Amino acid sequence: TPNIVTTNVLIVGSGPAGSSAALFLSNQGIENIMITKYRWTANTPRAHITNQRTMEVLRDAGIEDQVLAEATPHELMGDTVYCESMAGEEIGRRPTWGLRPDRRADYELASPSMPCDIPQTLLEPIMLKNATMRGTQTQFSTEYLSHTQDAEGVSVQVLNRLTGHEYTIRAKYLIGADGARSKVAADIDLPMEGAMDIGGSMNITFKADLAHLAAHRPSILYWVFNPGSNIGGLGAGLIRMVRPWNEWLICWGFDINGEPPVLDNDEAIRVIRNLVGIEDLEVEILGYSLWGNNEQYATHLQKGRVFCAGDAIHKHPPSHGLGSNTSIQDAYNLAWKLAAVIKGQAGHELLETYSVERAPVAKQIVTRANDSGREYKPIFDALGVTDATTDEEFVQKLKLRKENSPEGAARRKALRAALDNKDYEFNAQGTEIGQFYESSAVVSDGGTRPESTQDPMLHHQKSTYPGLRLPHAWLGDRDLKFSTHDIAKGTGFTLFTGITGQAWADAAAEVAAGLGIELVAVVIGEGLEVQDLYGDWMHQREVEEDGVILVRPDKHIGWRSHRMVADPRSALFEVLSSILGRP
Ligand code: FDA
Repeated sequence: TPNIVTTNVLIVGSGPAGSSAALFLSNQGIENIMITKYRWTANTPRAHITNQRTMEVLRDAGIEDQVLAEATPHELMGDTVYCESMAGEEIGRRPTWGLRPDRRADYELASPSMPCDIPQTLLEPIMLKNATMRGTQTQFSTEYLSHTQDAEGVSVQVLNRLTGHEYTIRAKYLIGADGARSKVAADIDLPMEGAMDIGGSMNITFKADLAHLAAHRPSILYWVFNPGSNIGGLGAGLIRMVRPWNEWLICWGFDINGEPPVLDNDEAIRVIRNLVGIEDLEVEILGYSLWGNNEQYATHLQKGRVFCAGDAIHKHPPSHGLGSNTSIQDAYNLAWKLAAVIKGQAGHELLETYSVERAPVAKQIVTRANDSGREYKPIFDALGVTDATTDEEFVQKLKLRKENSPEGAARRKALRAALDNKDYEFNAQGTEIGQFYESSAVVSDGGTRPESTQDPMLHHQKSTYPGLRLPHAWLGDRDLKFSTHDIAKGTGFTLFTGITGQAWADAAAEVAAGLGIELVAVVIGEGLEVQDLYGDWMHQREVEEDGVILVRPDKHIGWRSHRMVADPRSALFEVLSSILGRP
């Protein structure tokens, strides 16, 4: 009937999770419809920090250059500032996001892509535009109402909010990327742990020229420690750059157990001037809202043909900038699996691995984001202001850190330790790119995962152990230079071997044809199109030259063999069948 529209995948939501899922599915040639309740994408900047793993994913999707063209560059993200107010005394500073000279090399060595800072208002339209250009049917002002599922598909009831017309979209699969208050997640009764609304926050967006306070210490974050800053919010007061150096977002907390503050233009201006520390600062208010901090994650992400991704499965404060990043990475994990099943290359069992692989990540990042908020308390403790009962006492105690006394010296030592400890939020490359999957879509090589030699949250340790992300190395030849990540395309599987591993490559074509999948064999070596020019690949591949590393479309290692085997064709056939959940 005309009231039923059919598609392969219906995506509810056009935020970071939804628009990236649409993009990845369209890149795979999978028909999809994306609906969103509103007439356009995010209307406030919200998430900004785009970490290396997400930039790699966007690079694979062919839009990294479009994102960089609109982003604030990495170099300006840097000097995280702690202060009494932006114009007031500075408490301390620390280079972040890999800009500390001793960390910069770690970031450059780990990935072809550096972090950048792009407000959600600019990132979402880029993903949505490219998805739509490549095939996604994008429907604005269209609301998800309910669904039912059966053995062949999902029937979704939707409402066109412009016309009031209700209709049904029949899809093989449904993705609920409808945010923290996800109706899809509620409808499939996803099990959740933790609590919502555990702290109160307000966001205020505004324009003001603050270049004189920022340009010499460029940073996306200016943390303010003044009376009231240790209540609710993100752990301290925050002035967050939206565009350098004239557009900003303030996060300021309030006691969730008390009466919510009355937020109007005058109150917003008062909060801004208080945090900036300029009594008559000229400001243009762009918007404000109240919101609740959450610490909640889903422990299972799927029911039958319905999957949830993004804030629908992990709800947490913006600390550490993990929200949008993790949402995009969820979609990247799910999209190739849906594509493989829809193309008939994989069994349904592969879809179960989405939950197995991503639920632990949801738990990890929700806990991490909330710990990042909690790690401000030692700073307040070191400053000696935690127990201040009045604003006057707070201001008075802030001076303790300057005292010429043994107590003053002890405070200064504790303060520096507490500020350095914020590396777990701001220089935590391990947390950001070190995700590890254990599921039936990863086949063991019989070994054990190498122990971390450094703190795994702060430092990323490269390894080709199955389940880990493919290490980045620059490869190339006389004409070209590219990353291992550039040749392992997101549209299929890739195997890497060396000259004496040629038999793996010879077997690959046959295996690909036999299974009806895309499997590209990359032989790296002297005189070939792909050379290990810097020797970096040899140092980090962890297998012999005649061994093999099999990479999944999401660039996690699916399997590896340290040496050539007697029958590489059968070995690859068996491993890929197992990963793809084929009988
Ligand atoms: P998101 O919430 O972005 O998108 C949900 C989508 O679903 C929207 O398109 C919506 O229209 C749609 N939708 C919902 N219900 C629907 C229905 N019934 N039918 C159809 N469509 C429906 N993170 C961070 O890392 N740094 C930060 O600074 C901030 N700041 C911040 C401020 C504020 C005010 C908020 C609300 C959030 C943040 N965040 C943040 C969190 C960050 O924005 C969040 O992690 C991502 O937007 C999550 O992306 P999703 O795509 O999962 O959901």
